[in-house]
Amino acid sequence: MKPASSFRELTPAPESALADVRFGTRAVRLPLGENLAAALLLAGIMPFRLTPVSGAPRGPFCMMGACFDCLVEIDGVTRQACMLTVTEDMAIDMPAAGKGDGDA
Ligand code: FES
Repeated sequence: MKPASSFRELTPAPESALADVRFGTRAVRLPLGENLAAALLLAGIMPFRLTPVSGAPRGPFCMMGACFDCLVEIDGVTRQACMLTVTEDMAIDMPAAGKGDGDA
């Protein structure tokens, strides 16, 4: 018997429930309405950004809006991927150097 968990699993979405999204130059299909950070990780996308000083790779860590390691740029605005849901035709990029939160 599977132990009870407070976390919800991402289950495979039917083809009709997938959104066409772009991450950089890569086209991906993500489950519509799911958490963006989780969906990008599920699609094998990592890192989400590079730190502006050393260029170290960063990706989601806390999944609750505290660490800012999941920053991505959507329509020119830097946002926390873990605080967003997947919508159709999202155009996602790594944040431009110098626009992040320092070298954390
Ligand atoms: S994963 Fe920590 S703020 Fe998004």
